[in-house]
Amino acid sequence: MSESDPSVTIQGIPQLPEVQQHLVRPTDPVTGTVTVSRVCTKSKKAAGFVRHIEIDVSGTPLENAWVPGQSFGVVPPGQTDNGKSHKLRLYSIAAPTGGETGDGTIISTTLKRVVDEHWDDHTLFTGLCSNYLADLQVGDQVQLTGPAGKRFLLPADPAAHNYIFIATGTGIAPFRSMIGDLLKADMPARVDLIMGAPYESDLLYDEDFTELAKDYPNRFHYRTAISRHLTPTQTKKLYVQSRLQEDAPVLTEILKSDRTLIYICGIAGMELGIIQTLATILDPTSLSQYLSIDPEIGTDPAQWNRKMIPRKLKPTKRMFLEVY
Ligand code: A2P
Repeated sequence: MSESDPSVTIQGIPQLPEVQQHLVRPTDPVTGTVTVSRVCTKSKKAAGFVRHIEIDVSGTPLENAWVPGQSFGVVPPGQTDNGKSHKLRLYSIAAPTGGETGDGTIISTTLKRVVDEHWDDHTLFTGLCSNYLADLQVGDQVQLTGPAGKRFLLPADPAAHNYIFIATGTGIAPFRSMIGDLLKADMPARVDLIMGAPYESDLLYDEDFTELAKDYPNRFHYRTAISRHLTPTQTKKLYVQSRLQEDAPVLTEILKSDRTLIYICGIAGMELGIIQTLATILDPTSLSQYLSIDPEIGTDPAQWNRKMIPRKLKPTKRMFLEVY
């Protein structure tokens, strides 16, 4: 079926809200103050260094001025080798509407230190802004811009939908924010979160999501996918798409509904596996709610590749993708 097929009408297409953007521009950033910086992996012995950072933006145009799914910018101090100011980096907002304290003053993000090797000469590479932010102490000031983003948002009428959120790593940030809004409000939305991490110790906000699943047993379902925990019965990596496949008996019923929206955020490459799995667990009509497939690529998902996204495997407006 091609996207231009006029006979196909997809039900349940969400209207996105009009949102404010760029209230604070990079040429004139505002000053925020770090109020919290804590490890947010399940264990301090996790393979990655990931922190939850909260910043007070009271009295600035950023106060109470974002919605879940948007980002804010951080302008790192110092200059490049050519004497220019560093470019700003965008970080997904992890706080729900109203922020961490409900009054709109505290914004937050989920930050992973970038620590890597240069490919050519195998010398150490440390991400400039992520390490700057992760080093900040409570009370330190930071230059901010934003908010940014108008596509990866909750719909204008959030109660009209169910949600399947699929995250790996710090891709959890916008979902922490969205889940905060969805569960706070008294609405019939059902939320299933699939969270992927290399080891159990790397799960982010695990305690919070486990608590929420207990507090909202009918509305919030927390499903994890630990990739590197291999056992005699689990001999292949378990990715988020494997969790989708394993939990298909429950999830296909939800996916068939024209209320359901899928949001994917995290490591680039995960979207192909998820799309392939959706194509194996869903009948063609249900699949067409989320994906418009060019007939020329055939019906065998194993033959599809990432280059086909988005032209030949085109997400509909019921599937939101943010991978990096
Ligand atoms: P792995 O690295 O074991 O292959 P983090 O951001 O903390 O590194 O977590 C990213 C998670 O996403 C890891 O569990 C990683 O598994 C997993 N991952 C890597 N590639 C893919 C992919 N193509 N599809 C889904 N998950 C993936």
